[in-house]
Amino acid sequence: MEKLVIEGGKPLSGTIRIHGAKNAALPVLAASIMAEGTHTIENVPDLLDIHVMLDILRALGCRAELRGDTVTVDTSSANSSHIPEELMKQMRSSVFLMGPLLARFGKVQIYQPGGCAIGERKINLHLQGLQALGAVVEESGHTIVCWAKRLKGADIVLDFPSVGATENIMMAAAMAEGITTIYNAAREPEIVDLQNYLITMGAKMIGAGTDTITIEGVPKLTPTTYKVIPDRIVTGTMMMAAAVTRGNVTLENVNPAHLTSVTHVLKRAGVQVTTDDDIINVTCHTRPKAVERVVTAPYPGFPTDLQPQMMVLLSLAEGISIIKETIFDGRFKHVDELSRMGADIRTDLNSAFIRGVPRVYGATVESTDLRAGAALVIAGLAARGTTVVEQVHHIDRGYDRIELLLGQLGAKVSRYTEVASKSLLS
Ligand code: EPU
Repeated sequence: MEKLVIEGGKPLSGTIRIHGAKNAALPVLAASIMAEGTHTIENVPDLLDIHVMLDILRALGCRAELRGDTVTVDTSSANSSHIPEELMKQMRSSVFLMGPLLARFGKVQIYQPGGCAIGERKINLHLQGLQALGAVVEESGHTIVCWAKRLKGADIVLDFPSVGATENIMMAAAMAEGITTIYNAAREPEIVDLQNYLITMGAKMIGAGTDTITIEGVPKLTPTTYKVIPDRIVTGTMMMAAAVTRGNVTLENVNPAHLTSVTHVLKRAGVQVTTDDDIINVTCHTRPKAVERVVTAPYPGFPTDLQPQMMVLLSLAEGISIIKETIFDGRFKHVDELSRMGADIRTDLNSAFIRGVPRVYGATVESTDLRAGAALVIAGLAARGTTVVEQVHHIDRGYDRIELLLGQLGAKVSRYTEVASKSLLS
């Protein structure tokens, strides 16, 4: 058990490089199993979830290793389509392997996936999509078995533009017989990245980034070298950290176009944001202003993965703001913890009413999930006094040693083990 100890009140300043996107790297790694041979995937972040995905690939018979930010996966010896329950429980993204394993082996056995506790997270849209492609799905208790002699292209209309379901169907359809069209597809940049990777392997598809994706199945894919996109959620988190500490921060290796809605909201709050090709600068010298209404929505709307961090900023803004969370039904767990630091937030169903306070104060708080944990770190940076954030393993799922990243910007964040209270890193 580790915790972060944060000495707040210091404006962040300087330049950092943002690592590759977890949510792009995970489906790309899953898709690698579709093509026999050695793949090289670059710009992969060194995160807990990535290590779980590599463990799953190894359990399926692949050789996989991460060196620096490059993963090498040799899928030639893959010989299993059964994802061990223990690994399934650790990460929801293990579900991404359904489409690829069905495509390569014609069958897959999984278990109900785990993941962050941010509300109900069903996989019905994944299963319906695979069924539409001809897969037979059998569920008994926690076990799910799917098989198909040959997947066949189909027209699929998603009830909701689910990111994971869109990705699973794209992967399965890439090697199905005939043409698949996904209507009401998710439009996230990570979907475009997956399409680009699949095309590099020889897949035929078009439309990622719009709500209609058309895929013409091919019999075989070939291994390739691919570089994943920068992490837009880590970028957005650092933008908000810069703003709440009234700092001046430059973020490199980013794609500003992926953060248009976030930049728009920050500008409405009075934060200065300037962009260049792959650079974003955030400067904030005065107290941010309230933003009347921020509503999370599928891309290109405001990302749910930045809602907790935005709540910290609005908690310190002048005036009253409302945040409406429309993607997950349990993503306000950070509210109680922020309240313990002095924030004034009231919730009603999926809306949070935030009365900005001039400052928050250091406290011992618990990180309940990945982005809630990141929000508490940001609150700690802005707080007067010392903040202790517990359950850091949640944060490690999505930020590669957040204390080092923030340390490069002058923040005082140290990691300790709960038992020995001994500093591991600073
Ligand atoms: N949903 C269903 N049925 C399904 C799939 C989804 O009802 O079969 C519902 C979910 O319950 C949820 C909503 O649809 O209410 C959105 O889920 P979606 O499938 O779009 O999300 P996901 O694929 O599970 C990815 C990211 C999440 C991010 C969401 C939304 C990855 C690995 N994860 O999850 O990232 O919040 O899209 O943008 O890509 C994070 O990084 O902290 C994180 C949670």
